[in-house]
Amino acid sequence: MKQVRIGLIGCGGRSNSHRQSFLKMDDVKVVAVADPIEERRISAAKQFGCERIYHDYTELYNNESRDTLDAVVICIEPTAHESSEIRAVEMGIPFLVEKPVDMDIDRIRDVSKRVRETGLITSVGFQDRYLKLTEMIRDELPKHKPGGLVYGSWIGGIPGVWWWQKKSTCGGQLVEQNIHLADELRYLFGEPVSVYATCSRGIVKPGVNCSSEYDTDDHSTAVIRFENNYTATLVSGCYQLSGRAHCGLVITLEDMVIDYRLRNNLIFKTADYTYDIKRESIDHTYYLDEAFIYAVKTGDRSRIRSDYSDALKTHELVFAANESMESGQVIYFK
Ligand SMILES: NC(=O)c1ccc[n+]([C@@H]2O[C@H](COP(=O)([O-])OP(=O)(O)OC[C@H]3O[C@@H](n4cnc5c(N)ncnc54)[C@H](O)[C@@H]3O)[C@@H](O)[C@H]2O)c1
Repeated sequence: MKQVRIGLIGCGGRSNSHRQSFLKMDDVKVVAVADPIEERRISAAKQFGCERIYHDYTELYNNESRDTLDAVVICIEPTAHESSEIRAVEMGIPFLVEKPVDMDIDRIRDVSKRVRETGLITSVGFQDRYLKLTEMIRDELPKHKPGGLVYGSWIGGIPGVWWWQKKSTCGGQLVEQNIHLADELRYLFGEPVSVYATCSRGIVKPGVNCSSEYDTDDHSTAVIRFENNYTATLVSGCYQLSGRAHCGLVITLEDMVIDYRLRNNLIFKTADYTYDIKRESIDHTYYLDEAFIYAVKTGDRSRIRSDYSDALKTHELVFAANESMESGQVIYFK
């Protein structure tokens, strides 16, 4: 395969990040695009001189095939998935899909099962796994006695996209945004044993500094227990108007504090030394895309750090946290 032919499903904000990666890759061409918003699909098509322009993914799948596309990249709002992945599985087209991959956990389980059965190449947009800083934490942890407390936080404002305003269309901040740190926790500490979560509303005033439709949690806290004696407290907040909260992970080990400042720098601190390491300059989304393209081109999927079936487990964790917010109960994982 000389050039990887991509079908781009969704031409909004996140799709643009992937397009920037593909524009830098000589061996990739976006050959088909789909988006119900005309201006977006035309503008994305122009970037690649692409002439196959569709209204939505159904039209794209109806007109394309495994012979015309080597892969699809799916960047649509969380409630728009329905058949966007199943069609790719049925047609045997590898796909990269953005998190959250769906709002319907049963459908995620079904897609995961069918992806496993068919052996299709997939990747999910957990780009933080591709950061060198993440690799450094993973290298460091086994050098220490396992166990300790982890504080994870993602606190900021409310993203502007319409679907972020309602919990029913975005899943809430933990599902939509802090899913990145929930995934990072799994990547560092393995599978969770249990989760308990609470949430709160009332700080953000709908219609004052956000849409009048706003009804998601202003903040939530999830306590996640892992095997090996790690317990993480993961806080999410979207009520902050100014100031800059600490975002990232603070891992307190017996003899070291690992302070990961979200996508920026990483501090290793012991009684004897402090190392502060800056993030590399290349965008981690580029690494995510490169790993997927390499897999599609060669069949070697070893560079992909989160495929659909692995990502299912992160989605099960954050959906369970939402369930706990509703019920007030601890949710245990088998
Ligand atoms: N990995 C990350 O860091 C990251 C960052 C931002 C967003 N995201 C995720 O990417 C996804 C998209 O977010 P966004 O910010 O690009 O949203 P957006 O609203 O800017 O874009 C979504 C696009 O999907 C299009 N769309 C809807 N239904 C469609 C259909 N049936 N066929 C084709 N296109 C359709 C919409 O018209 C819209 O243009 C979300 O799941 C979001 O959580 C991930």
